[in-house]
Amino acid sequence: MLIRRPRRNRRSEAIRELVKETYISIKKFIYPIFLLSQPSQKVEISSMPGIFRLGEELVLKEIEDCLQLGVSSFVIFPVVEEEKKDQLASFSYLEENFYLKTLRKIKEKFPESCIVTDVAMDPYSSDGHDGYLENGKIVNDKTLKILAKMALAQAQAGIDYLGPSDMMDGRVGYLREALDKAGYTEVGIISYTAKYASAFYGPFREALDSAPKQGDKKTYQMDPANSLEAELEAELDILEGADILMVKPALAYLDVIFRLKQKFTLPIAAYNVSGEYSMVKTASKAGFLDEKKAILEVITSIFRAGADIILTYHAKEIASFMRM
Ligand code: PBG
Repeated sequence: MLIRRPRRNRRSEAIRELVKETYISIKKFIYPIFLLSQPSQKVEISSMPGIFRLGEELVLKEIEDCLQLGVSSFVIFPVVEEEKKDQLASFSYLEENFYLKTLRKIKEKFPESCIVTDVAMDPYSSDGHDGYLENGKIVNDKTLKILAKMALAQAQAGIDYLGPSDMMDGRVGYLREALDKAGYTEVGIISYTAKYASAFYGPFREALDSAPKQGDKKTYQMDPANSLEAELEAELDILEGADILMVKPALAYLDVIFRLKQKFTLPIAAYNVSGEYSMVKTASKAGFLDEKKAILEVITSIFRAGADIILTYHAKEIASFMRM
């Protein structure tokens, strides 16, 4: 006689819903958007089917559409023209920077939205690195000063969270202090706590034209082989004043998400990165996967691992699935 029959709890849709442990809520998504300098410009990203680089007018429209679908949080990345890039990423904090202007417009037009920025040098750096490069090395503390200028300019634009994606040591504390000294105590920091040196950022670097001109990012981004080190990064970020911790990428690092969720009390975000999006999209386009099921399974797995928040290029399409 079989006393334990787990299949009893799978008998019908109604029962399966009763025992379901993980739910997808579109309120938990942050939708990444790539911003161009020309207001009405729209350029496809060949490695990310369905995702475009958009000028300000189209970004405002996109955000309006998303808000109607229930997606209210966004992370905005600037696509900077090559001639505006330099070794010091100085365009990042200049008043004429289109990124800062658009951030301000978004918050003016949609104060109910939550806007996360990108704090790192790579979109503006002629070297394509997240930090300041000198004699072939990334100089940590000099980078912090540049990041703080960029961060203050973004805070001034009225945004909700800074998103330091650079992986310099001490940057969360440095930015927190800079914000507080300038009176921006309400601006939060969603820290890219455990950001790995990953192959899955490939399509994003195409989108931003931001691949490193030489070398790789292994002296600042983490080794995919390490997870204890993610705990160390999390401990430091908490001590330094982070409001939300992030693991990036998500899929190949579900164990890291789980680990941080078990051990720490801050909300955990996970970045379902460009390469993860491209894998699902291209395999679905080729007819190898059922696209909708694959997307929902991927996203469910990230929530199940313990993520409270997911940054994903699928956010808008999931919101429209949920309307159906
Ligand atoms: C760089 C940055 C990267 C991503 C977000 N910020 C790429 C990198 O570190 O080279 C990747 C996001 C994605 O792949 O979707 N500051």
